[in-house]
Amino acid sequence: MQTTYWKLGSGADADRRAIEEAAAWLREGKTVAFPTETVYGLGADAASDEAVRRIFAAKGRPSDNPLIVHVAGMADAERLAQRIPPPAARLMERFWPGPLTVVLPCRRDRVAPSVTAGLATVAVRMPSHPVALALLEAARIPIAAPSANLSGRPSPTTAAHVREDLDGRIDGILDGGPAGVGLESTVVEAGEDGRITVLRPGGVSLEQLREVASDVALDGALLQNAAAAEFAPKSPGMKYAHYAPRGAMVVVAGDSAERVIERMRRELAAAAARGAKTGVLAFSEHLPQFEADVAIAYGSLKHPEEAAGRLYGALREFDRRGVEVIVAEGWTETGIGLAVMNRLGKAASGRILRV
Ligand code: TXA
Ligand code: MG
Repeated sequence: MQTTYWKLGSGADADRRAIEEAAAWLREGKTVAFPTETVYGLGADAASDEAVRRIFAAKGRPSDNPLIVHVAGMADAERLAQRIPPPAARLMERFWPGPLTVVLPCRRDRVAPSVTAGLATVAVRMPSHPVALALLEAARIPIAAPSANLSGRPSPTTAAHVREDLDGRIDGILDGGPAGVGLESTVVEAGEDGRITVLRPGGVSLEQLREVASDVALDGALLQNAAAAEFAPKSPGMKYAHYAPRGAMVVVAGDSAERVIERMRRELAAAAARGAKTGVLAFSEHLPQFEADVAIAYGSLKHPEEAAGRLYGALREFDRRGVEVIVAEGWTETGIGLAVMNRLGKAASGRILRV
């Protein structure tokens, strides 16, 4: 398969033509990758089982892991859901368009069965990226879209990452520059009792959710993430070893930066003594204290949002440079740090050393 590549940003008319062509392809049942404010998504017509199956095939994604349906507004969400519980509606009003996905009871006649993987619910989100919104408006159909990476690899934050994984496996890529947040959306479920459960931390923080909803809890699978491997999570995607770099990774976390740095140095020295090619991932303020074959900074401690967005690119860079052991600095689990630690834990298959 030949993958068509549309580079946006060379003029409003050219951009509009590219987006219209991509939208027409989506309506025809083709697969198109596009930027969102979180990560790049791989889209297909959410009502067509045949089209959605192409996404699973291109990614090598297990068929029991459901997809998020992207919509152009509240009205589309209402058409896909049997009903919208009031606490969910409040969150959608506050955070849409934006990095929040809401799990709702599904209208099965309007969503292809492969999208929901047989669940009675459907995950819905309205993205805020101008290209994603323009594409949804031009296509006039809801678009199912997981992150546009090969299953098990870090999510793509640039069109180049999408190409690296999916060139020749999908119909097209809309290149709208780097994605924004650089981590996926927050996935929540709203119970009839008003309780909000976070199934996946992401671009909207726990603190932000709590400004709008009084009763917000983390799903048990997130709390036990590192401890119990066979705990059954509500969000099927959370059980897979996601976001994994090829090297073996360990995360060192703790309240004292000094202790964390000291332990990271020891881990790096031990790996080097075994003859492994080493990589270190740390805040730029701490980076000079490490010796490693490849050293990458998240960015500054002073700009955590920006730093969070560099995580996936860094994991890919370690792979490209053949790093065998990656030692990563842990984050404080507040704000975007909760989502970063969740992804770091997955990338490290749960190897988080608390010091
Ligand atoms: O930011 C994002 O959410 C990106 C962009 C492209 O929008 N998409 C994304 O999709 O991260 P994906 O497929 O990589 O992750 C979707 C997550 C998975 O953990 C999946 O299990 C969960 O959402 N999910 C989807 N439908 C669900 C449902 N009905 N109930 C519970 N979890 C669901
Ligand atoms: Mg994904």
